Amino acid sequence: TPGSPITPADIPTADSFAFAFDIDGVLIRGGRPIPEAIEAMKVLNGENEYGMKVPYIFLTNGGGKTEAERCIDLSRQLDIEVSPAQFICGHTPMREMVEKYETVLVVGGEGEKCRQVAEGYGFRDVITPGDIIKDNEHTTPFRKLTAEEKANSRTRNYGETKIEAIFVFADSRDWAGDIQIMLDLAMSKGGYIGTLSETFDEGPPIYFSHNDIVWSAAHDNVRLGMGALRKMVEMLFKDLTKGKELETIAFGKPAIGTFEFATRLLQQWRKDEHRINRPPETVYFVGDTPESDIRGTNQFNTKAKNEWYSILVRTGVFQEGTEPAYKPKATVDTVLDAVRHGMKREF
Ligand code: G3P
Ligand code: MG
Repeated sequence: TPGSPITPADIPTADSFAFAFDIDGVLIRGGRPIPEAIEAMKVLNGENEYGMKVPYIFLTNGGGKTEAERCIDLSRQLDIEVSPAQFICGHTPMREMVEKYETVLVVGGEGEKCRQVAEGYGFRDVITPGDIIKDNEHTTPFRKLTAEEKANSRTRNYGETKIEAIFVFADSRDWAGDIQIMLDLAMSKGGYIGTLSETFDEGPPIYFSHNDIVWSAAHDNVRLGMGALRKMVEMLFKDLTKGKELETIAFGKPAIGTFEFATRLLQQWRKDEHRINRPPETVYFVGDTPESDIRGTNQFNTKAKNEWYSILVRTGVFQEGTEPAYKPKATVDTVLDAVRHGMKREF
């Protein structure tokens, strides 16, 4: 009726396309929103000249908290409501591996956070590096557990414990200790801590939640990421075993499996939140890292049933003046320009 306020529910939703956003270097840097990101979300939520809302999801390689916790942070930072049903982080697809392994080592993140995430996914028996250090403090000569870490760590008999897989959920807070323990296991007899293999081919598989060598944080220049840790582990294994190769596995972008996971999540989100029952014709992916965001989007575009359109922004890892190793469909300054670019192409 004339004069009555227009509520967000009244705004029609565009059903032929959607957006997917990387987080670090696109929306957030060092815990603070990139200013244009807040405006970009408003535009997607209907504050635009077309009078339409556009569905969107988030796809970050980051991690270290439950999806629900990350969404609370993101909602506050971007001044919108973000649901775990529209959110994927580096370790989210790892939850599909819970049936495969009984006892696993989970590495990375603050305190007990990643153990909690893993147990929330349904992993039945989760060990942390802290548990191993508590059991034998000589494991890491220069890393002593704090009183709190000691209290949280769990005691058990490692002689009888077979660690079946290692999952690096988030960035290591102690590279030396974590690398030591990962190598101890990679070189062990079948995943038993304290043993040493003669053949060095019987350690547990190591899964990383992503492979970003660098990422965009608060510092002006990029910072070392999980992919750098992965390189260290692989290189040192080769060195210590006189030439054996350690093959580890990385989830996250650019892995195709992650984009397939995102496709299923987006489909469900469009259905549940927007009552759209068909797949989008185009998904605009906005990222800052050519090696993971653009590479993954372009690669997936050749396999997907719909179009995956890569947009590179200049607010993160990619710096103007360098040649991106993987070429985006478009390069723009900020995420707001990316949203405008996609919408202009559609309407
Ligand atoms: O540790 C997080 C970082 O490597 C990448 O996060 O959001 O840019 O995929 P994002
Ligand atoms: Mg990024």
